[in-house]
Amino acid sequence: MEDEFKMCLDPYKIRGDFPILSRKIYGKNLIYFDNAATTQKPRQVIDAICNYYREKNANIHRGVHMLSQEASELYEEAHYKVAKFINASQAEEIVFVKNTTEAINLVAYSWGIKNLERGDEVLTTLMEHHSNIVPWYLLTHVKGVKVKVAGIKNDGTLDMDDLKGLINEKTRLVTVVHTSNFLGTINNVKEICKVAHEAGALVLVDGAQSVPHMPVNVKEINCDFLVFSGHKMLGPTGIGVLYGKREILEETPPFMGGGDMISEVHYASGFSIKWNSLPWKFEAGTPNIAGGIGLSAAIEYLNRIGMENVRKHEREITNYTLRKIEDDLSKVKIYGPRKPSVRGGIISFNVEGVGPHETALMLDEHGIAVRSGFHCTQPLHECKQVNAREGSVRASFYIYNTKEEVDKFINVMKKIEGIT
Ligand code: ALA
Repeated sequence: MEDEFKMCLDPYKIRGDFPILSRKIYGKNLIYFDNAATTQKPRQVIDAICNYYREKNANIHRGVHMLSQEASELYEEAHYKVAKFINASQAEEIVFVKNTTEAINLVAYSWGIKNLERGDEVLTTLMEHHSNIVPWYLLTHVKGVKVKVAGIKNDGTLDMDDLKGLINEKTRLVTVVHTSNFLGTINNVKEICKVAHEAGALVLVDGAQSVPHMPVNVKEINCDFLVFSGHKMLGPTGIGVLYGKREILEETPPFMGGGDMISEVHYASGFSIKWNSLPWKFEAGTPNIAGGIGLSAAIEYLNRIGMENVRKHEREITNYTLRKIEDDLSKVKIYGPRKPSVRGGIISFNVEGVGPHETALMLDEHGIAVRSGFHCTQPLHECKQVNAREGSVRASFYIYNTKEEVDKFINVMKKIEGIT
C-alpha cells in the first residue's frame, strides 16, 4: 500500500544531535526502536538541563534574589510553551506533574472525588494503558462509581458504535487514549468529545503517544483534559502535563497539599486556607524545575522540525516497515490497523514459534532495542488473543529513525524466523 507522503525531515541530520545514537551495543550501532517507552534526548535538551544546574539553580517562587527570579521565569516560560504547543488558551491551563500516570490520578482523585457520586459512570475503552484503567478501578471502591469499557473491532480500531451506545445520562467522564501504545491506532477523539459533550459528560484524552508524534490542538479536539509525558517527546523523565479547561480546573480541588499551592494558611481560629491561582494550586512542593526547563527545550526542538513533519516522517517509516514485514517475512503476525491515516509509528507483532522476550533478546544482540511484554495493556492483549503468557514485541519509531535501520531490523528478523 503506497503512502502519499515522502520523507520530509532529514533523520540523518537530526541524528547528529543525539549523543546516545553513536553508542555501540554488543559492538553494533544502536538501533533504537523503543520510542513509545521513552525517546532519546538531543544535546539541546541535555544542555538546557545542565545549564540550569550550572548557572541558574534556585528554587522557584520562593526568593527575591536573582537566581530564584531567573529560575521562576524559565519554569513559567515552560508552561507558556506547552500551552502554545497544544494550542491551549492560557498557561494557567497547564499543570506540570510527574508523568501521564500522575495526571490521570490527579483527575481521578481531585475532579473525580468531588464530582462523582455512587452509580455515576466513567466510560473507558479496551485500548487503554493500565494507567487509564487502574485509577478508575480504584474509584469504584472509593465512590461506588461504575466503570464501563467500550470494545474494539477486528481491525484494531475502536468500536465507535459500542462507545456511543454506552454513553448515557449517568456517564460523567469518557476517558480515552488518543494513540494506542500497543496497536498504534489513532482514535477520533474529536468525535468522541462531541458525543460525550452532547450527553453532558467530560472527556479526558490520554495523549502520551499522540502529543509527541503529531499536531494536537486542544481547542479543535475540545477535550476537557489532555495528559502526556515529557520523556516521550525528547524531554527528561519526571515531568508530565495535565491540560484542563480553566473553568474546570478552577472548580477542582487540589490533589496534594504543601508549599506554593496555597496563597494563605491560618489556624489562629480554626483552619483557613486560600489556594494559590492556577496552575500552582496543583503543583505542591518544589516542582521538577529542571524537568520543566528540559521539556521547554524539547518543545523548541520539535517546533523547529514542525509536528506535521514529525507525523509525516513516522507515517512514512511505519508504512515502509509494514510493507517490508509483509513482503520479506512469513511468520510475523502484526497487530493494529493497516490504514496509514489511523496508525501512529508503533508496530506490535509476534513471530510464530518464538516468544516475544526471546525475539527482543535476539534483536538486542544485534543492537536493536524494542520492547517486549504486555506494554501495560494486558486487557487489550487478552481481547486480541495475543500470547496470554508473554505478550508481544513492539517496535516504535521517532524522528531519528531511518529506512536503513528498518532494513537492518528486517535482516535480523529473517534470521529469527529461520530458527523456528
Ligand atoms: N507507557 C510506556 C510504553 O508504552 C512506558 O512503553
